[in-house]
Order: sequence, then C-alpha cells, then structure tokens
Amino acid sequence: MNTPREAGHQRLLSYYRRLQRWTLGPLRRELGVMHRAVKRSGADSQRTALAFVSGEVERALVSRLQPGFRVLDLGCGLGGTLARLVNGPALRGIGLTLSEAQARAVAARAARSGLEGRLAVVVGDFHRVPLQGARFDAVVMIEALVHARAPATVLAEAARLLVPGGLLAVVDDFPSPEARSDPALHRLLARFRRGWRLGPLPGFAEVEAMARRCGLVLVERCDFTPLIRRHPPQGSWWVRPFAWLDLPGDLGGALSGAGARELLTARGAMRYLLLVFARR
Ligand SMILES: C[S@@+](CC[C@H](N)C(=O)[O-])C[C@H]1O[C@@H](n2cnc3c(N)ncnc32)[C@H](O)[C@@H]1O
Repeated sequence: MNTPREAGHQRLLSYYRRLQRWTLGPLRRELGVMHRAVKRSGADSQRTALAFVSGEVERALVSRLQPGFRVLDLGCGLGGTLARLVNGPALRGIGLTLSEAQARAVAARAARSGLEGRLAVVVGDFHRVPLQGARFDAVVMIEALVHARAPATVLAEAARLLVPGGLLAVVDDFPSPEARSDPALHRLLARFRRGWRLGPLPGFAEVEAMARRCGLVLVERCDFTPLIRRHPPQGSWWVRPFAWLDLPGDLGGALSGAGARELLTARGAMRYLLLVFARR
C-alpha cells in the first residue's frame, strides 16, 4: 500500500506528466524552463522574458563565486537553467527531479549541447537527496521549494550539500501574512496550493528563519513582483477567472492554480522573489 508520501509523489508526477504533455509550448520546451516569464520592459519578447529568471540566478551566483563552480539544481524540471549555468560559469552540474520524464529530457538536453560528463541528472526526492559524498558551491531551487511538504527539511538538505561559503539561490512565490489572515485571499491561496499540488507555502520571513536555523544567511533579496505587475505575463488576464472555479483533475487544477496565483500577485498578496543565502 502507498504511504501518504508516496501517494503525494504519485499525484505530483501525474500533474507534471499532463503539464509537460499539454501545456508547455515549443519555446518553453526549447529553453527547458517551466517557471515564470518576467519582462523588464513591455518591449521584451517572450523568449527574453523566459530567460529572465535563469539570467538573474546566473548573475547572483557569478557576482559571488569564482568561475568553475559545482552546482546542484533541486527540482530542475527540463534542465534549461542548469544547462545555461554549465554552458557558462559552472564547471559541473547535477539536476534532481522527482520525474523520470523530466530526467530524460535533461539527459537529452545535455547530449544535444555536448555537456555529457559535465551535466548529470538524478531522479529523487529533495527532502532526502540521494547524493552522499557530493558537495556543491551552489544550490539552485527555482519554483521548486513551493512543492516541499517540509520546507525546513529541504533547506537543511541544501545546507548539508553546500561547502562553507557556498550559495543557495531560491526563486519562488512567497505569500504575504495577509494572504493567510484575509479570508478571501486565504481562499485564493488554498486554491493555488491545491491546484498546483503545493506544500505549506511559507512566507518570506518564515523561510528566512528556517534557513538561518540551518546556517544559511540571507545575502540578497530581489523582488520581481513590480515587474510582473507592470507587465503581466501572457495569458495572465484570461486565466484569472479560473481562480474562482475549483476545477477537478490535473489540468483543471493547473488552470485554477494559475488564476489564483495571478490574482494573489496582482493584489500584492504574493511576491515573486529571488533569495540568495550563504552557507556559514
Ligand atoms: C515548477 S517546476 C520548476 C522546474 C525548474 N526549476 C524550472 O525552473 O523550470 C518544479 C520542479 O520541482 C520538482 N519537484 C517537486 N517536488 C519534488 C521533490 N519532492 N523532489 C524533487 N523534485 C521535486 C518537479 O519535478 C519539477 O521539476
């Protein structure tokens, strides 16, 4: 019989199977990114917007690490960010994902880009990373911590895998305290969590406190919310009404969750942040 943890993984895998099959357009597949498209200006193309987050993570790591660093991407998706780092300033990279289908896509990307031997992928759970002796100069988590059922455990794993002075870069949605105290916002938050198969979704202050307890000190915080509110992403308007419908199934949940996320962001009840922590 399945444990609750295994059942949760099965639900997440089914969700990502459908998402990968039905909702990722050709550009996302080509770039290998499942995260938000962010425009610096209204004139930015969708390609530029989809490259934004990876570019910001690269900038944050390069400004503090020597070239040739070893990087681990927890929740690597299709591996676009990881491949970009290994093609650029990183010497080696390992991606971890729960999904075998995503792992195959990452391996194919590594082969296409001539990165075999420097870019590897592992299937596993980031609550207990199946890498024993390995240590990294950087750990990256993009829109992945939101899925953690125990975020403190995942942060402790990231800290365990980093060398002293190593960096953890997290990009994610962080609900404001009002998103829990205001009943209407709280309903939207619940729909976002249920629809997208997310964990408890701690706020920024909670994550910072959890990280501190693992020996991770915040060294940078960038808020991309003003950019998203100024230049709402493609599809942001038509998806919002779905926030009020509790649609069933993986694709229904993806739509309701996307609508709730857009509304929470537009109302200032959720912020899209890049956080960089240094391991003491
Ligand atoms: C929204 S996708 C983001 C993918 C990628 N970071 C990106 O930016 O395109 C979330 C990722 O987290 C992974 N994930 C979710 N729960 C996980 C877990 N418990 N262990 C490992 N990976 C997990 C999913 O498989 C998926 O790759």
